[in-house]
Amino acid sequence: METTNTLDSAVLDVRNISVSFGGVKPVQNVSFTIKENSFTSVIGPNGAGKTSLFNLLSGMNKVDSGEIIFRGEAIQSIHAHKIAQKGLVRTFQGAKIIRRLTVAENLMMAVQGNPGDNLMGFLNPRARKSFEAKAREEAMRRLDQVGLTKFADEYAGILSGGQRKLLDLSRALMADPKMLLLDEPFAGVNPTLVEKLLTVLAALRKEQSITFLLIEHDLETVMNISDRVIVMADGKIIADGLPNSIYENDLVIDAYLGSRRKDA
Ligand SMILES: Nc1ncnc2c1ncn2[C@@H]1O[C@H](COP(=O)(O)OP(=O)(O)OP(=O)(O)O)[C@@H](O)[C@H]1O
Ligand SMILES: [Mg+2]
Repeated sequence: METTNTLDSAVLDVRNISVSFGGVKPVQNVSFTIKENSFTSVIGPNGAGKTSLFNLLSGMNKVDSGEIIFRGEAIQSIHAHKIAQKGLVRTFQGAKIIRRLTVAENLMMAVQGNPGDNLMGFLNPRARKSFEAKAREEAMRRLDQVGLTKFADEYAGILSGGQRKLLDLSRALMADPKMLLLDEPFAGVNPTLVEKLLTVLAALRKEQSITFLLIEHDLETVMNISDRVIVMADGKIIADGLPNSIYENDLVIDAYLGSRRKDA
């Protein structure tokens, strides 16, 4: 196991990673270090490479070059499932839920090692029942954390866009993450629910010592919760610092705020 000797409190150390698809270079020579239990937001215009960065960190795509060190271990060549098991867990832009399962069942699906998955377990209904009871208990605990308890036995399809984001977050929590990568958890969520989500995230950080890396379009939304903001444009980091310093950065105003004005 490789260890980081320079930064003891680093939970994630991204070293000069790049990826390209044909002529497109979504992530180019990106480096940054994330401290344990910190809250960092990644902002940037459409197509900046934010989701591509998360795809690399979570192992869904592999880097062409560079290293990703998570808790002292190089993970850039490891399978996505294994990375999640190590505690680096992501959510997806556009929460994926199964509409025709209940909210609780959606979470129970996320539990590893269902004995019904193999023949021995299938033939042993008692083992399966006990597994299901435990999975249900865990699902209910996670739903309580995000305030969705009352929807536990409703079909997930009835949830609003914002409530789906909460369900997606609670599903990520089922993996007992050390670090969460959240891809636009506030997109399409009404302001009241955004406030609620922010409170939930702050509580998770405090009570479970989770480290956060969160993608968001709007700097204002993450201003208060973030210790640090990383700004991406055209596959590169163009600014990295305290939330306040980002407002005054000329590169950010040109690349990021400029393109947002065009969007409007
Ligand atoms: N697998 C892929 N194959 C080809 N091009 C890709 C692939 N993944 C990402 N890209 C391209 O990389 C660029 C960055 O896309 P990415 O989704 O990372 O941006 P983003 O910052 O998340 O944007 P948004 O804010 O719209 O979600 C885009 O030009 C995209 O088309
Ligand atoms: Mg994206």
